[in-house]
Amino acid sequence: MIRSVFKGVGSALPSKLVTNDDLAKQVDTSDEWIRERTGISQRYIAGEGETTSSLAIKAAQAALDDAGMTIEDIDLLVLATATPDVTFPSTATIVQKGLGGAGFAAFDVAAVCSGFLYALGTVDSMIKNGLATNALVIGAETLSRIVDWEDRATCVLFGDGAGAMVLGTQEVDAEDGPGILATKLHADGEHKDLLYTDGGPSTTGTVGLLRMKGREVFRHAVVNLAQVLRDVLEESGHSAEEIDWVVPHQANFRILDATARKLGLPMDRVVVTVDQHANTSAASVPLAFDTAWKDGRIKRGDLVMLEAMGGGFTWGASLLRV
Ligand code: UT7
Repeated sequence: MIRSVFKGVGSALPSKLVTNDDLAKQVDTSDEWIRERTGISQRYIAGEGETTSSLAIKAAQAALDDAGMTIEDIDLLVLATATPDVTFPSTATIVQKGLGGAGFAAFDVAAVCSGFLYALGTVDSMIKNGLATNALVIGAETLSRIVDWEDRATCVLFGDGAGAMVLGTQEVDAEDGPGILATKLHADGEHKDLLYTDGGPSTTGTVGLLRMKGREVFRHAVVNLAQVLRDVLEESGHSAEEIDWVVPHQANFRILDATARKLGLPMDRVVVTVDQHANTSAASVPLAFDTAWKDGRIKRGDLVMLEAMGGGFTWGASLLRV
């Protein structure tokens, strides 16, 4: 059978490090509250000249280097973001040009924090259907540009960054061979008012700012994620005990902990970067994957569950044999 297989991963963070204490000088918050309620201790924020595309280009080049490939080997680029450089053209085409590529299909996917899972699922289908051979899947964000810096309930939660993965095509004989084994994606527009921006091109003609009812989002996140993880395990014929690593979307340590508990998974098999990066939306899963790949936790042959939940709501999970 034809599978989409993992070839390499890379990430990039902006240069400006912002600690909880730095934020406590701007809004009525404290390092203690942020750590206790979210697990976040710091985040990186894009400075002047740093954009979603500039971070994505760095992450994608790092992923190509990790895979031992060049942009010449790539014939598809899918980029997930909620903070594109401009309304159009897509950030994917800007990144394609920035990497020195041309001609192959490049487009953006909009699923907010679940964007990387949606991009991965799209690329996986395109590879399996013969529409691409080697693809770049990127999650990149500069959420700091659309955060209300006067709203302490949201501004402390987010950070900027980018992560990228190279997927290739491989004929695999054994069921348990490498590649993406199963993916599930979901959406439910019923909950659009719990996490949204209060503006956009065709409504206000502005970009809008991020608005969130955090407590409600939290509740839905744990329920939806636990269910989609069970569904992906069932579809792939694997059990929670077989998972080597869960690489979750990094929104809140308490969500990671509650989801792991529901599945009976110990936290020492969950990759946690929310403390260092905060919530980087579509970038968080590949950023966390890259962190655990580079430090040697994730290894070839490992069974890795990727999962995310975000505005829409959208949510999804994917099981990968590295
Ligand atoms: O990435 C997409 C998915 N997003 C998420 O998954 C986010 C999900 N939600 C969460 O992570 C949590 O709900 C939050 C971290 C956003 C909030 O934590 P919480 O435990 O749900 O707190 P809360 O919103 O219920 O607020 C508790 C208290 C409130 O004060 P009162 O009303 O109890 O007096 C808030 O005003 O904490 C207050 N508060 C703060 N205090 C200090 C809210 N933000 C802050 C702050 N510093 N930054």
